[in-house]
Amino acid sequence: MTETLAIFGGSKTRTKPFTSWPVFDETDEQRLLGALRSGKWGKLNGEEVSEFERRFAAMHDCKHAIGVVNGTVSLRIALMAAGIKAEEEVIVPPYTFLATATAVVEANAVPVFADVNLETFNLDPQSVEAAITPKTRAIIPVHMAGQPADMDAILAIAKKHNLLVIEDAAHAHGASYKNRGLGSIGHMGSFSFQSSKNLTSGEGGIITTNDDQLAEACRSIHNCGRITGGLWYEHHVISANYRLGEFQGAILNTQLNRLEAQTATRDRNGQYLAEKLSKIPGIYPQRRTAETTRHAYHLFLFRIVAEEFGSSRAVILQALAAEGVPVSGGYAIPLYRQPLFLNNAFGPYLPDAKTRLDYGKVSCPNCEKICGEQGAWLEQSIFLGGLSDMDDIACAFEKIHQNRHLLVELK
Ligand SMILES: Cc1ncc(COP(=O)(O)O)c(C=O)c1O
Repeated sequence: MTETLAIFGGSKTRTKPFTSWPVFDETDEQRLLGALRSGKWGKLNGEEVSEFERRFAAMHDCKHAIGVVNGTVSLRIALMAAGIKAEEEVIVPPYTFLATATAVVEANAVPVFADVNLETFNLDPQSVEAAITPKTRAIIPVHMAGQPADMDAILAIAKKHNLLVIEDAAHAHGASYKNRGLGSIGHMGSFSFQSSKNLTSGEGGIITTNDDQLAEACRSIHNCGRITGGLWYEHHVISANYRLGEFQGAILNTQLNRLEAQTATRDRNGQYLAEKLSKIPGIYPQRRTAETTRHAYHLFLFRIVAEEFGSSRAVILQALAAEGVPVSGGYAIPLYRQPLFLNNAFGPYLPDAKTRLDYGKVSCPNCEKICGEQGAWLEQSIFLGGLSDMDDIACAFEKIHQNRHLLVELK
């Protein structure tokens, strides 16, 4: 006799809440209060942001880090610092948050979509190579969910075609590729500290690099085009005030104290759950690559193959939620199918390209399969608990699988 599914009135597998986010205590309060009482609330006269920049850079094997207002502006500044010219092309994945592609448009460059690998959800190097044209100048691999992209292959392509690589590491604080911190492998890296992220100050972002000149260019662009040794009101490039504030710096400094231990916990739990779920027919957790020495598990990605499981993704997700497991179907639309791209709604950007770009013709079959049929995820804070939390999640999946024949009623 199998237990009745919660969706049909049975008892829930999980009744306790999972770990909530953000995690903070009196050390964050004290640091924030210290910043407040110092009266130095801006990056230009305080020490919190500069201390955080140094620590974050060191932790990610980088020489430089430049704190900015969010993880979209950081991508845009990186593209500007790289000298990408109007209407040049930048290759991006379509299975990512909007910002990876819109930052390219905001830099007045053309996002070109290459497909992702169905198993890793990360950029497929073959598809990248196929997308290269004489106008291509850069590649933005996203370390999707916190698992490093295939950087060796992407760097080899970049070298061959003389392209810049900007890592979108918005999901990947503390993750590593062959024991190297992300954000240190391409020419520049970009991170976000928005509320949901593994390291957060509510809003915020940072650019990382080991290149002195690129760092100098980013520093200038995020600080109104000022240059070292220049006058205060002397501005050299199109730029603005994109500086991170001291209150955010203060919170980030205390949050950073926890990142190492939290990342280790997420990685341990993520691997444990992946092993359990991969035994269930039709459930395919994101495949871990051999080069992934640490996965940040900002998201725990998995695919549901309905024919193998015996029920559709929509129904399984409903049943999981009823069992007390908060789960999402993830990005539902490949970026090139977003109305913004279908309608070339680029505002003042890309005036020439606008008429010749036809994103309606783009096809990335793996991304379409993930968005439309198979993809799903669990969020990072769930992975801050103990192994018993993972056991509960696995039990919920198993219970649903055992009762799959009853789910046809839900359709
Ligand atoms: C992959 C990716 N890139 C960039 C961003 C943009 O970061 P922000 O929201 O800080 O602008 C996000 C944020 O959600 C993201 O997930």
